[in-house]
Amino acid sequence: MSRITVITSGKGGVGKTTAAAAIGAGLAAAGKRTAVIDLDLGLRNLDVALGLETQVFWHIGDVLKGTVSAENALIESERYPNLMLLAAAQTVKPETVTEEALRKLLDAISGTAEHILIDSPAGIGEYFQKIIPLADEGIVVTAPVVSAVRDADKVLHLLETAGVGKRSVIVSGVRPELVRTGAMMQPADITDVLGAELLGVIPDDDAVISCANEGRPVSGSNTPAGQAYDRIVRRILGEEVPIPPLKFKKKGWFRRR
Ligand SMILES: Nc1ncnc2c1ncn2[C@@H]1O[C@H](COP(=O)(O)OP(=O)(O)OP(=O)(O)O)[C@@H](O)[C@H]1O
Ligand SMILES: [Mg+2]
Repeated sequence: MSRITVITSGKGGVGKTTAAAAIGAGLAAAGKRTAVIDLDLGLRNLDVALGLETQVFWHIGDVLKGTVSAENALIESERYPNLMLLAAAQTVKPETVTEEALRKLLDAISGTAEHILIDSPAGIGEYFQKIIPLADEGIVVTAPVVSAVRDADKVLHLLETAGVGKRSVIVSGVRPELVRTGAMMQPADITDVLGAELLGVIPDDDAVISCANEGRPVSGSNTPAGQAYDRIVRRILGEEVPIPPLKFKKKGWFRRR
């Protein structure tokens, strides 16, 4: 049986696909057989984030039509031998997909992977509500700003209502200087408000953008965001890894006066 985790958010563009790629690659690098599934139908980003876009032959649409089995539609990553991807279909309308069909798809993959990570669409739509009852765990990604946190709260409630027992939050795009001035929320205050476990804090880091452009997950890279994702992977694997305090830039001599 796989451990099925849905990665989601209230607001779009907060770092879900980045998280799915980084955590998936991190788990695979730790020796865990992992399947990442791009259920953000209509769009297709996870294959690009993993550098696998030229290898997509089958996608979820083909599996749902019965043209190919879910197992055979999985793309094996050469860079990460334990990592597999099921790519999203750009042509399938999410409203035509049933919870039953998604359940069958996950059941079919369940035997081949220890961890299944689902990259889901943002928001609280009907399609999203078909996905969440299938997950054992939910990771909600939020930016450290009030509007995103408010939407994350709604999503956490939906996860709870759907019976997703374990729920945690990744605060992504943190800029310590803005937290210091109060323009961004403190990650710990966010999880206090949300009443959820803080799984990790990802700094706003240009390395994420350069990795994304090169089709490389940021985990395993010697960068602030990469190291933050590596700590998240270790926490998922059950290790006690404290969240380090935010790193502020050192003040220059001219600012000290
Ligand atoms: N920690 C970070 N630092 C800097 N840039 C980041 C960070 N996390 C994500 N990004 C960038 O922000 C953009 C959105 O990230 P991503 O695609 O992962 O978000 P998403 O939540 O999956 O978006 P969508 O809702 O559209 O699916 C990308 O360009 C990504 O490279
Ligand atoms: Mg995405």
